[in-house]
Amino acid sequence: PVISVLELGGVKIARDDVVRDDPTNNVPDTIFSKLGLQLHRRDQHPLGILKNTIYDYFDTNYSNKFDKFDELCPIVSVKQNFDDVLVPADHVSRSYNDTYYVDSQTVLRCHTSAHQAELLRKGHTHFLVTGDVYRRDSIDSTHYPVFHQMEGFRVFSPDEWEASGMDGTSFAAEDLKKCLEGLATHLFGAVEMRWVDTYFPFTNPSFELEIYFKEKWLEVLGCGVTEQEILKRNGKLNNVAWAFGLGLERLAMVLFDIPDIRLFWSDDERFTSQFSKGQLGTKFKPFSRYPPCYKDMSFWISESFTENNLCEVVRGIAGDLVEEVSLIDNFTNKKGMTSHCYRISYRSMERSLTDEEINDLQMSVREQHAANSSLRRLY
Ligand code: PHE
Repeated sequence: PVISVLELGGVKIARDDVVRDDPTNNVPDTIFSKLGLQLHRRDQHPLGILKNTIYDYFDTNYSNKFDKFDELCPIVSVKQNFDDVLVPADHVSRSYNDTYYVDSQTVLRCHTSAHQAELLRKGHTHFLVTGDVYRRDSIDSTHYPVFHQMEGFRVFSPDEWEASGMDGTSFAAEDLKKCLEGLATHLFGAVEMRWVDTYFPFTNPSFELEIYFKEKWLEVLGCGVTEQEILKRNGKLNNVAWAFGLGLERLAMVLFDIPDIRLFWSDDERFTSQFSKGQLGTKFKPFSRYPPCYKDMSFWISESFTENNLCEVVRGIAGDLVEEVSLIDNFTNKKGMTSHCYRISYRSMERSLTDEEINDLQMSVREQHAANSSLRRLY
């Protein structure tokens, strides 16, 4: 059954206000149905367990100074999501291909940084914001269009860095690294880490923290010293601050040995019963490994084709039965026409699929794709 109304922090939101047949809207029903589930607020869920463990770290090390928010509404303005954190007007993340737009001025937040400015204006100087975030993306075992982030933010006043003899920026950068190295140790125990310089519009300098896990460097968070402009606009002219944003699924997949990101959404008791409140790092025991089924489809692409749009079609039809969509062949003929061949793997986490069922799904994907291509609306 299609859900028509949901409640978010006491506010009722009608499906028709979020999903509309309107060129300024690209939110499908599959995404609307995820709004309000708030997996991060379930104490027995791996994401809730992880959130609480991070809370413990901050409560212990900063004597409960960090204010915590975990039910801010994920429907935010373009201004909150982008302008307030200085994302340039031409940045790719603003495109309809990357972000879900409810209308031309309203989006499903693509990061928890969307709440930095309003919380600063309300006078908060130490805060953690946890929430569901939404991004149009390709499909594989570590990418899902809805995932969860935790934002951390800390403001310093001049006396804090002046006493150290350092300038404010160096002081904040050093404090930030110490804080996050401590957090990584709290979560992983003794672990090898490294800092990588990077770019974010809202911080400078900006860093990524990577940890060495199972013979690979894994990016676990982005962070940096907050751009002065953000502080200035929000009543903190004489301060410096740091911010970080970490992806909860990324960390939880490693900590709990969860092999596929779709599992976080499973209601199957064989998944949910394996985790308990306060137990970080219980190793997940796979209850099944049903065989995948691969189906290929090839087509000529138009100029407006994007992989994200194809993935949205596949997700709309097959839901969580789709495990991966990958480009396996890319060919351009003498006339300059390009064809793509995509391989779609179908696999259920919970049961084996019949040939008939998969053939029906694949047929619907082909039909929907063909219809969209000829309409030239989505592609
Ligand atoms: N918002 C960034 C992201 O989603 C993460 C981040 C947050 C980086 C805060 C720096 C400071 O990727």
